[in-house]
Amino acid sequence: MKRVTVFIAMVAFILFASVPQIFAQDRTILDGVYSESQAERGKKAYEAGCLPCHGAGLTGFFEGGQAPPLTFAGTGYDFIRGWEAATVHELFVKVRDTMPKESAETVDEISKLDILAYILQFNKFPAGDAELMLDTKALSAIMVVPEGGLSPLAAGHLVKTVGCLEEAVDKNWVLTKSPGVIRTKSPMASEGIALEAAVTESLGDQTIRLFDVWPNPEAHKGHRMEAKGLFMSGLNDRVTLMSSADGRVTDEAESEAPHEEMSDTAGQGINVLSLEMIAETCSS
Ligand code: HEC
Repeated sequence: MKRVTVFIAMVAFILFASVPQIFAQDRTILDGVYSESQAERGKKAYEAGCLPCHGAGLTGFFEGGQAPPLTFAGTGYDFIRGWEAATVHELFVKVRDTMPKESAETVDEISKLDILAYILQFNKFPAGDAELMLDTKALSAIMVVPEGGLSPLAAGHLVKTVGCLEEAVDKNWVLTKSPGVIRTKSPMASEGIALEAAVTESLGDQTIRLFDVWPNPEAHKGHRMEAKGLFMSGLNDRVTLMSSADGRVTDEAESEAPHEEMSDTAGQGINVLSLEMIAETCSS
């Protein structure tokens, strides 16, 4: 039965694919997040540590290197779009922990940050007054957004949201009081700074349906949760909740007529890949 519901939902959301995008991050790489002098230093560090594989023109394979391009120009490979909706911190972590390939420890962290500045400059993202700083919180607050903006949120995109876990009368799970879904790069539950952000993020008034939730999250009813997974839209936008507003289920709830009806779901759902408890309560 659930599979059938999901299938119908899938068909429906392919038909109504795009909805407005909400930004969680304060800034994007379009806002001048590095300085010219940082990019200058980054160019030198790039030439020493990255050029052998990624090439002088950052086109990698296209100029005989052993690595993918780090630019679109002349390659048709949209490196930045591949990272869209990620945070600069996530991109930094990729470079910090894995590059140069097989010898990541040969280039220090500060130089890698400078190199990111150079890559942004090379890709024509504007410079500003301040440098990219080696500060997880600051880097996490900058979103990677391609020049033309994020591609419209569509079926199957990885998204995340926070909200209060409730059960609907149709036995499906929902997150109420969600501020809405936003794009994300990683399907893994948030950790560290990103988790802190999920704790303090203000709640909203949307209800997001959850599909394929496993294991049964019953024990987390009424808790503030973070859900990540594949975006679904065009769903039936009326959800009738089984539990009371404070999240407690009473024994009569099953037999009684449901007493709370939500109609503001905007017909959106998440095919869940991770569902993580953020707090044992759920208030805005
Ligand atoms: C020995 C060759 C080699 C060197 C040197 C190297 N890389 Fe890479 N790089 C690769 C390969 C191969 C990949 C693709 C596989 C992967 O992602 O691990 C890659 C992938 C990447 C990616 C992800 C590309 C994408 O499309 O997502 C980034 C960013 C990157 N490298 C940055 C750097 C930076 C910055 C340096 C210098 C500090 C560097 N690399 C040095 C081989 C190299």
